[in-house]
Amino acid sequence: MTYLDNAATTLHKPDSVAEAAYRAIKTLSSPGRGSHEAAARASEMAYACREAAAALFRASKPENIVFCMNATHALNIAIKSLARTGDTVVVSGYEHNAVTRPLHAIGARVVAARAALFDSAGVLAAFEAALKNGARLAIVNHVSNVFGFIQPVEEIAELCRKRNIPLIIDASQSAGAIDIDSDRLGAAFIAMPGHKGLYGPQGTGLLICGGEASTLIEGGTGSNSKDAEMPYFLPDRLEAGTHNMPGIAGLKAGIEFVSRIGPNKILAHERKLLKEALMRLKRNGRLKLYASDRPELQSGVLSFEAPGLPCEEVASRLSEKGIAVRAGVHCAPEAHRSAGTFERGTVRVSFSVFNTTGDAARLAAALETITSEMQK
Ligand code: ALA
Repeated sequence: MTYLDNAATTLHKPDSVAEAAYRAIKTLSSPGRGSHEAAARASEMAYACREAAAALFRASKPENIVFCMNATHALNIAIKSLARTGDTVVVSGYEHNAVTRPLHAIGARVVAARAALFDSAGVLAAFEAALKNGARLAIVNHVSNVFGFIQPVEEIAELCRKRNIPLIIDASQSAGAIDIDSDRLGAAFIAMPGHKGLYGPQGTGLLICGGEASTLIEGGTGSNSKDAEMPYFLPDRLEAGTHNMPGIAGLKAGIEFVSRIGPNKILAHERKLLKEALMRLKRNGRLKLYASDRPELQSGVLSFEAPGLPCEEVASRLSEKGIAVRAGVHCAPEAHRSAGTFERGTVRVSFSVFNTTGDAARLAAALETITSEMQK
């Protein structure tokens, strides 16, 4: 299979990830639960994973890196720590349902700082205007999961710092593929999955905490066990229940893999593939491509349409030819609204470090067949 659905989950992982998860199943029990060897090894593994993440994301306090199930879990903790019913929350026009649904459930007043696709200056101007009107919180998707649009997160963070408005960054598509300096950004929270650009197993995610957090669930932490309340300190405050040690061990191996190569090199590779795909897909002449004229604004994610053919149909025909992509609204209706593709959706192609220019060529060849069959 030519796997081009890495924005959903990276399917091809380094061998070290699977090996680490297997070893963890065989040798690790629960961190902080017991003084025996298997528990001690689990504690060491959990801390080593936090340290690896802290080094990659330049976070000075590894203990402020909290293990989650995925980015949605991490975002729910972040959002529910900071937003209350009726609060004005400014979000970008490219948010995922993992942000908009918790805000809806809380009953926050959501203001979208909407701008056209790849209009970085427009995004910034929209945030600047929206933040003036009593915002209690700002949330930005670093990279759109639908279009690969890289939003001006550093400038937005600066605007928020100046106005003393806490910021949550959804780094679901950027973690591992774009350099993130969490201490410098000074965000209240940065949320990310482990199973995408960090090449870890599904069921893993991280929340980098820059400020105080409320618990989403309560339970045993292996610490302060006689207290009725959850411990106040991190990471225990946000990590009730037994840890996903195979996931954490695999995630550590994934983070080490990414750190060895470096996010900048990974991004350069994915952009090279994007460029190759674009060059070939433009030759097709029957596709509407959502690509920026400025490559620095786009990661290795590309949306397109084949006018006259529903996007789900294109994806299913690609699948028949052994090419995996994702079509529809990608759990991000607001991103499609901003880009003007809400009604039809798009077909999305997303690369990882394991893809090759041959994959881009296979995609283009398959689309050539599909679109020419359409005309018959
Ligand atoms: N948010 C993931 C995606 O974009 C699942 O496919």
